[in-house]
Amino acid sequence: MLRILNVVGARPNFIKIAPLLKAMAAHPDRLEPILVNTGQHYDPAMVDYFFDDLEIPSPDVNLGVGSGSHAEQTARVMMAFEPVCLKYQPHLVLLVGDVNSTVACSLVAAKLGIRIAHVEAGLRSFDRTMPEEVNREVTDLLSDLLFTTCEDGNVNLRRAGIPGDRVFFVGNVMIDSLLTHLPMARQRPILKERRLKAGEYGLITLHRPSNVDDPAVLSRLLDAFEAIQKRLKLVFPAHPRTLKSLGRFNLGERLETMDNLLILPPQGYLDFMALTAGAKLTLTDSGGLQEETTILKVPCLTLRENTERPITITQGTNTLVGTQTGRIVEAAYGILDGKRPGGAVPPLWDGQASQRVVEVLLREFEVARELQKHLQISA
Ligand code: UD1
Ligand code: UDP
Repeated sequence: MLRILNVVGARPNFIKIAPLLKAMAAHPDRLEPILVNTGQHYDPAMVDYFFDDLEIPSPDVNLGVGSGSHAEQTARVMMAFEPVCLKYQPHLVLLVGDVNSTVACSLVAAKLGIRIAHVEAGLRSFDRTMPEEVNREVTDLLSDLLFTTCEDGNVNLRRAGIPGDRVFFVGNVMIDSLLTHLPMARQRPILKERRLKAGEYGLITLHRPSNVDDPAVLSRLLDAFEAIQKRLKLVFPAHPRTLKSLGRFNLGERLETMDNLLILPPQGYLDFMALTAGAKLTLTDSGGLQEETTILKVPCLTLRENTERPITITQGTNTLVGTQTGRIVEAAYGILDGKRPGGAVPPLWDGQASQRVVEVLLREFEVARELQKHLQISA
């Protein structure tokens, strides 16, 4: 058996692990997946809704680390994860994405000499002010099996000096989840319940510290939303970090004065996919949403100066619009006036990425079995 500790902690991790766990479960004779939830996110709307919607099995281990500064959170995950590794003695630690839980567990596993698989490796914004960029660089450097979503990821890893035989171009597990759950999402009554009509509203998400922890930037973004909602209804499921900032900077009242903007709590996966699929456009700083809108062919205006997912611009529906009010409003009005961004499906974003990951893991199983035989013979 190949015992794999699969680590999740934050909202996007749950979406990425769901199809991987399903694909692993098809090989109970060879793969023994164990699920560890670090507890980086903990509100039911950020965690439980996703376990339910995506039918993720209950975690075998909960670390309950919660929030904190980067050092506190990373250190707490490391301290809690080390005894789990010692107890379970896994052959492999499998990590997804680029959150603090990801990098923390990569450090623990590497120091214990446990092999690491990183799903969604190779993404780079080339902007180290973004906490995720540091997490990506460190995790990739320490990983033994690196699973990429796109060709630019392969190039980035080559440039980082990572040997090519560790890199596997498999496609995008976010899209596995999307394609599996889209029919169910389309059945949800959320649009009706919120009195929304497909194609007649825009969807906002915001949570990057560079956007929501700086009152000047957040105010500029609200100015843009204010102008856009004069022409298009806006729906804004707000991340807990953003809700806190709106309160801290006394900006919540400004949002409430916008008659055509509906602020909502964070939405579960199926409802959020229903909202995304029906949107005229999205205004976002989310990584995952740039990818999902590319597949759903919904124009995505990314409120950032850079992206680690450039393929969503070159092939998909994404446009980087930065955080200056005028540019954002101009881009949104452009779409309302009929401008359509491109709409190709990036290679291997076909719903089969998790299967490809598991094929590689099964080869790992064969290697482990051969090694075991060899050790028995030598003994
Ligand atoms: C984290 C990830 C980010 C990812 C995002 C997905 C890091 C460095 N950041 O950002 O890459 O895109 O998750 O959503 O790992 N909070 C709650 N309830 C929760 C979770 C968070 O109230 O369930 C609040 C707390 O005040 C917390 C803040 O949100 O301090 C930020 O949470 P944290 O996990 O540190 O970072 P995110 O901004 O969520
Ligand atoms: N999402 C959701 N409900 C929401 C906001 C987002 O289900 O209210 C989903 C959506 O699929 C998105 C994913 O969560 O792609 C990850 O979102 P987030 O922006 O939190 O993380 P990132 O992708 O930026 O790391």
